[in-house]
Amino acid sequence: MPQTLKDIRSCIEKELEEFEVHFRQAIQSRIPLLDKISLYIIKTKGKQFRPMISLLCAKLFGEINENTFTAATMVELLHTATLVHDDVVDESDQRRGFFSINALWKNKIAVLVGDYLLSRGLLVALNRNQFEMLKILSNTVSDMSEGELLQLEKARRLDITKEIYYQIIRQKTASLIATSCHCGALTTCHDTSKLEHIHRFGMNLGIAFQIRDDLMDLESDIMGKPKIQDIREKKMTLPLILALGSAPSNESKQIIRGIRSDSENEDVIRRTVEFIHRFDGVRKATEEMNQHRDEALRSLSHLPSGEIQSALSRLCYFVTEREK
Ligand code: IPE
Ligand code: IPE
Ligand code: MG
Ligand code: MG
Repeated sequence: MPQTLKDIRSCIEKELEEFEVHFRQAIQSRIPLLDKISLYIIKTKGKQFRPMISLLCAKLFGEINENTFTAATMVELLHTATLVHDDVVDESDQRRGFFSINALWKNKIAVLVGDYLLSRGLLVALNRNQFEMLKILSNTVSDMSEGELLQLEKARRLDITKEIYYQIIRQKTASLIATSCHCGALTTCHDTSKLEHIHRFGMNLGIAFQIRDDLMDLESDIMGKPKIQDIREKKMTLPLILALGSAPSNESKQIIRGIRSDSENEDVIRRTVEFIHRFDGVRKATEEMNQHRDEALRSLSHLPSGEIQSALSRLCYFVTEREK
C-alpha cells in the first residue's frame, strides 16, 4: 500500500501545528514587502518533510520540547531559503504548484529574501543558545552551496561521473535531511552511537529523496514543478548518467553533443529522454534509490522500536514512492 504523508504524520499532528506557529513567528517582519512575501511563503507551504523528521527523530528518544521546535524551525527556514535561491539559479518560475518568488518579485528581491530566511534560521538556534545545532547547520549551509556550485560546474563541462553525482546530492540535499534528523534527535538523546545511526539514516534517506526528485523530473504526470527541467538546465542526473554508462560509446557521445550544443531544443530533449528509457536509466536509478532506502531502514533497526520507529520506516517508503 502506498504510504501517505497524512498517515505518517498523524503521531505528531499537534506538534506540527505548534511548529507552524514558530515558523510563522520566525519570518515575520516589519518591512511590508518582506511581510507580504513571508505570508505568500506560508500560504504556499510544502510537505514540511524536514521539520517532520526532526520531530519524529526527537520523539523516537523522548519528549518533544522547545529545543525540538527550534531544530524544526531552523531546518525548514534553511530549506525554504535554499529553494528561493535555487529557483533563481535554475531560472524556474514554478514552485509547489504556484509561481516562484523570482517569478513574482524578480531575482533581486528573491536573492534578498533567501538571505533573510537563511539568517533567520541561524538566529533561531543562536537565540536559544543551541550552539551544537548551529554548528551542524552551518556546516550544512556550506555543504549545500558547494553542492549546488559543483553541480553548476558539471553542467558546464558535462563530464560528470556517478561518484561526483553522489557527492553533489549528498551535499545539496542529503546533508540537510541528515541534519534535520540529527538536530531533532539531539534534543532528546545524548548517546553518540545512537546519534551516529540517526545521521546515517538521514543521509541515506536524503540520497533516496533526491534520486526520487530526479526521477520525478522525467515523469509527465507529476504536478507542482515544471517537467524535464534537468536536461534543459544541463543537469546530469542519475538516470541519464546510468544510461550513458550502458549505451555504446558513439551513442552516448551523440547525446552529450546534443545537450552541449542546445539543451533547450525540444528535439534534443525528446531524444535524450528516449535514450534514458532505452538504456534502462530509470529502472537502474530506481534500483539504486531503493538500495539507499534499505540502507536507511537498516540504520533504523539499531534504534528504539515502537510507533515512531514504524512511522520513520513508513517515511522511507514514502520517499521512494512519492509523487510530489
Ligand atoms: C525540494 O524539496 C528540493 C529537493 C531537495 C529536491 P521538497 O520536495 O522537500 O520541497 P517542498 O518543501 O515539499 O516543496
Ligand atoms: C535540489 O535540487 C535543490 C536544493 C537542494 C536547494 P533541484 O534543483 O533538483 O530541486 P528542485 O527540483 O528545483 O526542487
Ligand atoms: Mg531546481
Ligand atoms: Mg529537481
